Amino acid sequence: MTATSAPGPATTTRTPAVAILRLLGGFQISQALYVAARAGIADELRDGARQVPEVAEATGMRPDLLRRLLRTLSVEQVFTYDEDQDTVALGPLGHTLCGDTDESVRDIALMWMETHYRPFAQLWSTLHDGVPAAERELGKPFFDWLGEDADRVAGFTSAMGNMMRAIRQDALDAIDLGDVEHLVDIGGADGTAIASLARRHPRLRGTVFDLPHVVTAAPATLAAQGLADRIDTSGGDFFQAVPQGADAYLACFILHDWNDKQSTRILERVHEAAAPGARLHLVETVLGKGPAPEIATMLDLTMMGMLDGRERTQEDWRALLAGAGFRLTGIVETAGPMCVVEAVKVDS
Ligand SMILES: C[S@@+](CC[C@H](N)C(=O)[O-])C[C@H]1O[C@@H](n2cnc3c(N)ncnc32)[C@H](O)[C@@H]1O
Repeated sequence: MTATSAPGPATTTRTPAVAILRLLGGFQISQALYVAARAGIADELRDGARQVPEVAEATGMRPDLLRRLLRTLSVEQVFTYDEDQDTVALGPLGHTLCGDTDESVRDIALMWMETHYRPFAQLWSTLHDGVPAAERELGKPFFDWLGEDADRVAGFTSAMGNMMRAIRQDALDAIDLGDVEHLVDIGGADGTAIASLARRHPRLRGTVFDLPHVVTAAPATLAAQGLADRIDTSGGDFFQAVPQGADAYLACFILHDWNDKQSTRILERVHEAAAPGARLHLVETVLGKGPAPEIATMLDLTMMGMLDGRERTQEDWRALLAGAGFRLTGIVETAGPMCVVEAVKVDS
């Protein structure tokens, strides 16, 4: 018997009790995926099926227990475990746990289980007192805790790179920079997003702006793509000031990290800095729009548990932007879960 024929995620043929049990057991599946990702099992299988004892030896695991993990993750379509042959291969989702495929989310698997998993045990309290679960668990706001350790920052930046590659590209491709001369990427991390835009717009100049200890990753990304002469970097705090005078600003996956008051302060700094009539492009989810509403609602929970942020509806975006001197000009829906929220600076 092979596990390949095992049905995947809950379907309408399941009873409600089975469907809810499956959801309740999600924490175990998350940890099983983490173990597989951390051990590099998917990478061991890139060249095809292998005997389970061989994979066990390569990853230092006990074969009897590894077999059970693989059987479970085969039901989830990650691996294909053949009980008769005692072999395992990548399943339909398996390549996403490899380290360096285009759709890799391996670094997210590592980060979520190493930083997000434990705080979520405090979600009960968050729903009662509004304090983010991570703040209670870590004793301080998540970004403060993150910034204390260079390895944590590196892990978070690579996980964001994974997340962004997996769900952001459709939105970046939908941004029309037309005749924009200078684009500032607010919270641009290692510069991957602006690099993708600069490759598409050969005359575009740009600046990656992020916290000083984060933006240090950007020069290498930009140099590797031959963009160091067009894109520079700047370190600072977007609550204090952002680079001046550009005709367009990008904030990709930034404002959802912050509550409305904080987001307004960031937007006000952009408004102060931006050239007259400058355009603002926000790459964000818009609740109720897009083909993957479950990603937007899942991220909304992430924002509730880890930060004091939230996903927003179109009307939320309109009001937030208006409060900081920007007019919403449109929402561009894409094939992916992210939208582009387009706005223009209203000059006072
Ligand atoms: C969710 S990540 C988004 C990264 C990037 N825009 C992307 O699409 O890959 C949020 C970014 O905001 C940055 N950030 C957080 N607080 C900041 C602050 N006060 N000033 C500037 N950047 C900040 C973080 O360092 C991180 O790179």
